Amino acid sequence: MERQRSFSIKSTSVFLALVITTISSAIVFFTFLLKSNSSNANFQIDLSPVAAINETTTNLHISDSSVPPQANPILISTHFNPPENTSGSAKIPDFEHKTRGEVLVKEEDKVVVVTNLTSSVKAIELPRNNDEEKKKKKTKKRIDECDVTNGKWVYDSDYPLYTNASCPFIDEGFACQSNGRLDLDYMKWRWEPRDCDAPRFNATKMLEMIRGKRLVFVGDSINRNQWESMLCMLFQAVKDPKRVYETRNRRITKEKGNYSFRFADYKCTVEFYVTHFLVREGKARVGKKRRETLRIDAMDRTSSRWKGANILVFNTAHWWSHYKTKSGINYYQEGDLVHPKLDVSTALKKALQTWSSWVDRNVDPKRTRVFFRSAAPSHFRGGEWNSGGHCREANKLLNQTFKPSYSGKNIIVEEVLKQMKTPVTLLNVSGLSQYRIDAHPSIFGAKPENRRSQAVQDCSHWCLPGVPDTWNHFLYLHLLHKR
Ligand SMILES: *[C@@H]1O[C@H](CO)[C@@H](O)[C@H](O)[C@H]1NC(C)=O
Ligand SMILES: *[C@@H]1O[C@H](CO)[C@@H](O)[C@H](O)[C@H]1NC(C)=O
Ligand SMILES: *[C@@H]1O[C@H](CO)[C@@H](O)[C@H](O)[C@H]1NC(C)=O
Ligand SMILES: *[C@@H]1O[C@H](CO)[C@@H](O)[C@H](O)[C@H]1NC(C)=O
Ligand SMILES: *[C@@H]1O[C@H](CO)[C@@H](O)[C@H](O)[C@H]1NC(C)=O
Ligand SMILES: *[C@@H]1O[C@H](CO)[C@@H](O)[C@H](O)[C@H]1NC(C)=O
Ligand SMILES: *[C@@H]1O[C@H](CO)[C@@H](O)[C@H](O)[C@H]1NC(C)=O
Ligand SMILES: *[C@@H]1O[C@H](CO)[C@@H](O)[C@H](O)[C@H]1NC(C)=O
Repeated sequence: MERQRSFSIKSTSVFLALVITTISSAIVFFTFLLKSNSSNANFQIDLSPVAAINETTTNLHISDSSVPPQANPILISTHFNPPENTSGSAKIPDFEHKTRGEVLVKEEDKVVVVTNLTSSVKAIELPRNNDEEKKKKKTKKRIDECDVTNGKWVYDSDYPLYTNASCPFIDEGFACQSNGRLDLDYMKWRWEPRDCDAPRFNATKMLEMIRGKRLVFVGDSINRNQWESMLCMLFQAVKDPKRVYETRNRRITKEKGNYSFRFADYKCTVEFYVTHFLVREGKARVGKKRRETLRIDAMDRTSSRWKGANILVFNTAHWWSHYKTKSGINYYQEGDLVHPKLDVSTALKKALQTWSSWVDRNVDPKRTRVFFRSAAPSHFRGGEWNSGGHCREANKLLNQTFKPSYSGKNIIVEEVLKQMKTPVTLLNVSGLSQYRIDAHPSIFGAKPENRRSQAVQDCSHWCLPGVPDTWNHFLYLHLLHKR
């Protein structure tokens, strides 16, 4: 009896022990499962001791690739606590690795991850508290009620969306990496609107939205920049590369300006037509000479081919400069009149009015959505594009606390858009692009063998992948939410 009793007590405790073991190992197992699920390729930084950030609320990934080999193994903060073993979370083998050159600093209500590379310092702010994060999410607006230009650049190791190897459409002028640019951080910034949740770019979804349609970019080489970016972004969702081709087999070069790429599986085309001014460049007799003029009262000759597009993305800005318009002397033409002198703002306004009446006459808003991209900033220092200006030393963003300026050309565009019958969406990229002095080709706008000299730098166009991907992301967001 005595024995039996003690046995039965024993067996109960054994049973209890078994139950406890099973439950706790199940917890360990499921926690591990959750962790490994969420962190497959890019491991997730484990902030559990400092902040309650969990799988569902954060998409911060710091992948190894974001830490170049020369990164400094410096840990400046004592606030950082290593993860505890007791929580049952699986140890992330790369953790030590990850702390190289990165510092987690605890602040009032957020965790700041500072990556100290010799070349740059990045700060990524994360809401520290789940409840606060949730509250913020609730108050965030729908994308169509939200000013996406109000926000900040955040480092995102899931970026870029494509590479020089995964996109065959980047021409030499924008192919910085292929041309020898070594620092790659400029590809890794994502624009994050402050007041709304911007879904990530989904190439498949974008292709579905333009199925059977024509997406047409019209403008100068900066629009070509954006168009190539769009081709690259969409190409990532295409299974058979042969199903994407230029309809007349043209290769992309700087000199030519008409392209139509067909995505056969979606029966859509993504086209580009070059026109520096949107209005017509021509020649006229002035005195005894025939001179180049700009017909500010007539549309560019390719305009007949923009008709019938379902999405039109226009731009013009850089060519409206004193230099490129021959100081406005004997250059601008209306009818038979060549203005002896006209200032560039007046000419731009007249040209945009010519453009806007063309749109109002030729575009059916039920069929076609019209966008106008605002002027993209240049970042020449110590000179202009034609006088030794440079941006070579730039490998980090400008201080994001500075307030970007807004050019007079953009104000003229806004005034003209307001008077139009056709609704036109302004892709307002000027401000956010101003921080990105790091993202121009500089000397890497040409292969080393094609570089004339280091004195010629491109601080106007943008490396691809890079900033124009963000402009296209905006385009995507607008198409997604305002249909
Ligand atoms: C993670 O966040 C989600 C949604 O905010 C919440 O439902 C869940 O309970 C959280 N999990 C943990 C372990 O905090
Ligand atoms: C945590 O686990 C590792 C092995 O996974 C062990 O080396 C270390 O001593 C443990 N630390 C604590 C505080 O238990
Ligand atoms: C980053 O590292 C450099 C080189 O070791 C050092 O001089 C600098 O003070 C560090 N900056 C910060 C913010 O830790
Ligand atoms: C991409 O850039 C790297 C680095 O410069 C280069 O080695 C590689 O050949 C490039 N790939 C293509 C397809 O151009
Ligand atoms: C992208 O969009 C497609 C089609 O709408 C959808 O099936 C897919 O799940 C989306 N991908 C992501 C990562 O959201
Ligand atoms: C674009 O195509 C039209 C018609 O084929 C042609 O007349 C024009 O010269 C082309 N323009 C450029 C810049 O290639
Ligand atoms: C950015 O500018 C603000 C205000 O001018 C200044 O307080 C801050 O220290 C600057 N940050 C960096 C990283 O230079
Ligand atoms: C475009 O953004 C700038 C700030 O970058 C702002 O000053 C301007 O008012 C915006 N324009 C419109 C039409 O929203």
